[in-house]
Amino acid sequence: MRRLAVFASGNGSNFQAIADAIKEGNLEADICLVVCDREDAYVMERARMENIPVFSFSAKQYENKAGYEREILDELHIHGVEFIILAGYMRLIGSTLLGEYSHRIVNIHPSLLPCFPGKDAIGQAFKAEVKETGVTIHYVDEGMDTGPIIAQEAVPILNGDTKDILQKRIQELEHELYPKILHQLCQEKQHT
Ligand code: GAR
Repeated sequence: MRRLAVFASGNGSNFQAIADAIKEGNLEADICLVVCDREDAYVMERARMENIPVFSFSAKQYENKAGYEREILDELHIHGVEFIILAGYMRLIGSTLLGEYSHRIVNIHPSLLPCFPGKDAIGQAFKAEVKETGVTIHYVDEGMDTGPIIAQEAVPILNGDTKDILQKRIQELEHELYPKILHQLCQEKQHT
């Protein structure tokens, strides 16, 4: 059973989809830690309801990224974490975590990368009036939403869509795709 840490900054609907897939037997893994950089993030409440330990921190209380990432790394060691799963974690991963977990950090992003990286990818696509956008799951490197792509699926932007409708359609796909791809990755990594 692979040991995962989920990193999130907000609502945590992807965290929930992963936790539900585990409970339903569709993903052979354990979430042994949630890492969160915002005290008011709803994902913390979700983690409590699932009885999963949380490490929360406030970046501004540290001198630099290495400062808080060293503490995160200690927590990952304590909980025996093998894979870091980014699920709406709105910070760049630095060299402290990449050094130890390179090729074992996965991110989900709501666009067809390399289009629309960074913040508000759904709003960016909506404003650009493209015909389709989508969801990308990729390994994380030092860049912003760069790194080798693992899976990508398109979502059409339809006449009459609002940004909220588009966001709902994209998130529904995320909740289906992320657990499925994580399951495949966990299976593959069992054999290596
Ligand atoms: C998700 O749509 C995820 O793809 C996006 O943040 C949202 C988090 O939602 N991530 C990024 O934009 C990363 N650059 P959630 O908190 O409900 O899972």
